[in-house]
Amino acid sequence: MFTKHRAVWGLRSPGGVLLLAMTGCSGGNHGMDAQPMAANPPSMMLTADFDSIQANIFTPLCAGCHGGANPAENLNLDAAHSYNDLVDVPSTEEPTLDRVKPGDPTDSYLVIHMQKEGDGAPASDIPFVIQWIQDGALPGSQMPMSSEFKVAAVEPNSGDTLDAAPSRIVIGFTQELDGGGMNPAAVRLERINDAAEGGTLVIPVSLSIPAHNARALLVTPAVTLPPGQYQVVLNMDLTAAIRSQSGAPLDVGAAGIGERLVTRFSVAADSRD
Ligand code: HEC
Repeated sequence: MFTKHRAVWGLRSPGGVLLLAMTGCSGGNHGMDAQPMAANPPSMMLTADFDSIQANIFTPLCAGCHGGANPAENLNLDAAHSYNDLVDVPSTEEPTLDRVKPGDPTDSYLVIHMQKEGDGAPASDIPFVIQWIQDGALPGSQMPMSSEFKVAAVEPNSGDTLDAAPSRIVIGFTQELDGGGMNPAAVRLERINDAAEGGTLVIPVSLSIPAHNARALLVTPAVTLPPGQYQVVLNMDLTAAIRSQSGAPLDVGAAGIGERLVTRFSVAADSRD
């Protein structure tokens, strides 16, 4: 899914009408002049559901920094990754708290951070985020239960070069995972050795599935990854290695049985030296 998103400054909040009235005002809006109105503007009402929060807050206001190969704080808020990076995933700044704890906005670091920092979202947007979390932080329609059980999104993406070792690798699937039946050997993180040495070195990881988001698999390295090239492979040789809750085996397409590379990324050498 590589959709391009357009910022929709000025059309975001329920007060959108009011903001539009400011078009043409001189100064005072940080150079973010309201965009010319499309003939048939899409409905951009901010509501307390994930689709609306993604379209009105995360994509236009946050994904610029929280996106790409090196999202701030390993938090990617673009549409392909945000849900998997938020729900039941520990905060980088405040690891005792989850970024989003469904049903508990007070203990959700996303809310605390937005209240504290603003981060470019108007304070009037925050109640919608609070309400969404209070209501259970349900996923949006962008993540339909697909009839095929496949990998939907990975972070880091293939080809990414990271400035720092990732604290975790997130693999998003199109269906909910059967955690109980998961064989830990089904997912391998490998360091690719120099061409001269050849081969790969397996890095120990722990696997976890967020309680409220069984479509994500968090792969946490046991050690801080030193600079180098890495890959994550799914070992499809193991029977019932990765199954959905409905019992379907992972669809690996034409690749069939064997190993399925899900991402290959690099951690850049420390630039501080
Ligand atoms: C100008 C770049 C920038 C923008 C835009 C931005 N952020 Fe951030 N964000 C950061 C940086 C840098 C940090 C880490 C330092 C800090 O907390 O200020 C951060 C930290 C965070 C954290 C803490 C992550 C953690 O795991 O502890 C959250 C949550 C967050 N941002 C949410 C948002 C949201 C929501 C938006 C959009 C409304 C947003 N940010 C917009 C740069 C940005």
